[in-house]
Amino acid sequence: SLTGNVAAGEARKVAHQAWADAPPVALYELTAGPVTHSFHPDLPDQEVWGFNGSTPGPTIHARYGEAVLVRYRNALPRGARGPGSPEISIHLHNFHSPSESDGHPDDFYPSMHLPGTFRVCHYPMRYAGYRTNPGPDGIGDDREALGTMWYHDHRHHYTASNVYKGLAGFFLAFDKYDSGDRRTEASLNLPSGPFDVPLMVQDKQFDSSGYVVFDAMDPDGFVGDKFMVNGKIQPYFHVQPRKYRFRILDGSTARVYDLQIRHNNQAQKFWYIANDGNLLPSRLEMSSVLLAPAERADIVVDFSAYPPGTELFLTNRLQMLDGRKPEKDFLRTPIQLLKFIVGAGPVADDSQVPANLRALPLSDAEIEQARRDAVRREARLGRSNGGWTINDRIYTSKPRFSSKQGQWEVWSVRNDSGGWVHPVHIHLEEGRLLSRNGRPPPPHERGRKNVFYANPNERLEILIRFRDFTGHYVTHCHNTLHEDHGMMENFEVKP
Ligand code: C2O
Ligand code: CU
Repeated sequence: SLTGNVAAGEARKVAHQAWADAPPVALYELTAGPVTHSFHPDLPDQEVWGFNGSTPGPTIHARYGEAVLVRYRNALPRGARGPGSPEISIHLHNFHSPSESDGHPDDFYPSMHLPGTFRVCHYPMRYAGYRTNPGPDGIGDDREALGTMWYHDHRHHYTASNVYKGLAGFFLAFDKYDSGDRRTEASLNLPSGPFDVPLMVQDKQFDSSGYVVFDAMDPDGFVGDKFMVNGKIQPYFHVQPRKYRFRILDGSTARVYDLQIRHNNQAQKFWYIANDGNLLPSRLEMSSVLLAPAERADIVVDFSAYPPGTELFLTNRLQMLDGRKPEKDFLRTPIQLLKFIVGAGPVADDSQVPANLRALPLSDAEIEQARRDAVRREARLGRSNGGWTINDRIYTSKPRFSSKQGQWEVWSVRNDSGGWVHPVHIHLEEGRLLSRNGRPPPPHERGRKNVFYANPNERLEILIRFRDFTGHYVTHCHNTLHEDHGMMENFEVKP
């Protein structure tokens, strides 16, 4: 990747792991900077942060087989008041990125007086494991494809405030093939184009004059009392009477949601098709989705049965009064996050939700074998002296362990931190959740996952291996305040 200051005409060349086998064919430019934003017509327009003038930032659509460069420019104001840092390191959450392009928390770069400081990240758009299993066309095994991802700032100590201030956006990856004999996502004919809609759910707090506030010093995890979808407080959305795919992301600091689609106070059924950006082997009929920070759920909702003018709501029924954990009791009156208004029909809709989606790359027998071959690793989540710890230590830039490329590992995650929840995220690869407290996880968590939600006193077992790239990566709690206050480990993948 290249780092430099355009205005000063200076550039530094950095060794790159995937340039030769994944030459880039597209360049996107995202400029982090101040944005005048309206959260709601009743609140004053105010300055937040975003990319290219909006928050969330623009959605990037990328395709497997077509490597992408993103030039992240930093035009944030120096000496800005309030929480946040004008130094950034943008991470593409869940992507299999070479470490020099991963947006490591220590890899941040400043904003200059002359705007223009940038970092170029190279996203190879190869399926994980392509180096050892290139497939017929060199890009890997499409059962390893990812769909719904997001980019966000990751500057150490300031991730929570910078993401809260608006430095986040969607990055969607699509299969290489539009059709053909391979079982690609496109051949499934799921709702697509304008009927494939990413929804970023977040909570915020406002002061009595209507300006957004945040407490970055509160290590417990901040929750807001106003809810927004894609940067707007409780917006509405005119939908056609047909199927829609919604890619829902919990982009909040600490809040866990239990989401439903409600009509006349009744939870409606929908198809759950992908977890953390990975298509499940088969669709699941569900009526609620639990999402912890950074988790994603792709669902398909069919509005065709509702008469024109019908209102439905995306709601949250989980109460969370502090950053600790959701309250036991569900809210009597679920909070409405987004209102759908159904338009007149009928409209043509040939999209489908096939019963079988995409097979997982490992059979049960292969998982058993991998488990026997695996090295064991412990991650004890705890708290000491006010800081959040993993294995009794807070974050330092020194690698805590190294992983051998290609070696199976079983991570045993133990939440010993008292009555708190922690969504554990691992960079570079997703894993498979083998068990929760010794029991098999629910069906929607049995696919490839990238954020593992640990309830108080829970024990998780995760099967994972790091394949294509070497270098420094992190694992951390995705309650971004916990992460900023030390609940993160640096590790190194070695050949
Ligand atoms: Cu979503 Cu380490 O990040
Ligand atoms: Cu945590």
